[in-house]
Amino acid sequence: MNTHPKCEPQSIRHRLDVKILNVLVRKSKTLRTEIRAKGRRRTARIAFDRSVIFALSKIYRFPAAWHTPTSMRPYRIAVATTINALDPKVVCEVGCGLGSILSRVHAQKRVGYDVSPGVLRAARLLRSRSIDFRSGSIDAVDLPSMDVLVLVNWIHEVSPEDLERMLLPLLPRTRHLMLDAIDADNAFGYQFKHDFAFLDGKARPLSSTRVDGEGRSFRLYEVIA
Ligand SMILES: C[S@@+](CC[C@H](N)C(=O)[O-])C[C@H]1O[C@@H](n2cnc3c(N)ncnc32)[C@H](O)[C@@H]1O
Repeated sequence: MNTHPKCEPQSIRHRLDVKILNVLVRKSKTLRTEIRAKGRRRTARIAFDRSVIFALSKIYRFPAAWHTPTSMRPYRIAVATTINALDPKVVCEVGCGLGSILSRVHAQKRVGYDVSPGVLRAARLLRSRSIDFRSGSIDAVDLPSMDVLVLVNWIHEVSPEDLERMLLPLLPRTRHLMLDAIDADNAFGYQFKHDFAFLDGKARPLSSTRVDGEGRSFRLYEVIA
């Protein structure tokens, strides 16, 4: 073995070069798989959207991983389409994130609540001024009446008991609920998989929408007056 001190920096450099090369090979394989599955245009769009969200997450300090772009997760389009079919006047979303659903909803009044101040600042920058972004969670909702109350892609972090406790007081103030239910066999490791049994007799299921690759359904309920 050559242990000459002069050779060491070179061997470290060589090992580093090999590591970088391996990373590049892995990345280019992933990219080729993505292009095969999604096509060039969509892959480029996703890469662009992700870099915008990544930059915003650094500026406004929120976790980028929680905010994948709609080009990558088009469920928001399906959710907004279902809501728009109700021709709503007032739509409120709790856990609205960057406002990707609300920005696709057509309603005179759109209100989004979120607990992350950084996300709210980024959402205000990205979206129309006509969307009212507010700080807080379910217990902060003070709208006297809503056509649709949306809670999507975060309630899997809330226990059924807590969700029931927070949601039931709002039922007299909303006509519909849009909720997501993680599939029982979804292996991703979500903390809670709701069946919304606590809504029995209080709200009736109107529709359940599936989107490829989501492993969950998007459920629309009508509150029983
Ligand atoms: C994955 S993002 C989803 C955003 C949006 N619902 C969507 O589907 O595009 C989840 C958002 O819920 C927010 N959130 C998490 N727990 C919350 C809570 N208890 N109350 C309100 N917002 C919450 C997070 O800050 C984050 O912005």
